[in-house]
Amino acid sequence: MPTALYPGSFDPLHLGHLDIVEQAVELFGDVVVGVLHNPGKEAGLFSADERLAMIRESLRGIDGARTATFAGLVIDAAREIGADFIVKGLRTAGDFELEQQMAHTNYSSGGVRTVYLPCSPERAFISSRFIRELAKYGGHIGHLVPDPVAAGLAARPQPRPPAPATPSTMSDTR
Ligand code: PNS
Repeated sequence: MPTALYPGSFDPLHLGHLDIVEQAVELFGDVVVGVLHNPGKEAGLFSADERLAMIRESLRGIDGARTATFAGLVIDAAREIGADFIVKGLRTAGDFELEQQMAHTNYSSGGVRTVYLPCSPERAFISSRFIRELAKYGGHIGHLVPDPVAAGLAARPQPRPPAPATPSTMSDTR
């Protein structure tokens, strides 16, 4: 049975990610959801351990999916677990360009092929970035994430929305 590594920052895991895990398990049988640091992103919302715990809870009941955290490169993580493939989800054409570069880079440095899976259309708009933003200002996220992630987000201290920089006055309306 082939093993696939599904790497990401998963900060946090959402229903689009779960869709890709389910498709990958169907195709490969053995899928490792690997939590990695994205060097292109600012400090995350959850620590790697917190993300891992929420992912584990969220994957309960999906036979064939397991989890791990890795430091450093995706290709080293793939080698460490003996992955036959790297799996990535594509939401829109916008995702493709960067993923293609990463796929070629990973193949050239470690000989592991990347397989793209299309995210289901009804989940293709979901992004961790906007979930973080909604959660930060108390927006509703329950329809975008699995229950353990919704609980994890709800347990975080809620910051107050930022006050406007300058209070508006009548003279501003001239
Ligand atoms: O969920 P994300 O943030 O899109 O995941 C991106 C991730 C973690 C897969 C990517 O940033 C990554 O590959 N990080 C590890 C560093 C690495 O291997 N760089 C070379 C990739 S070509």
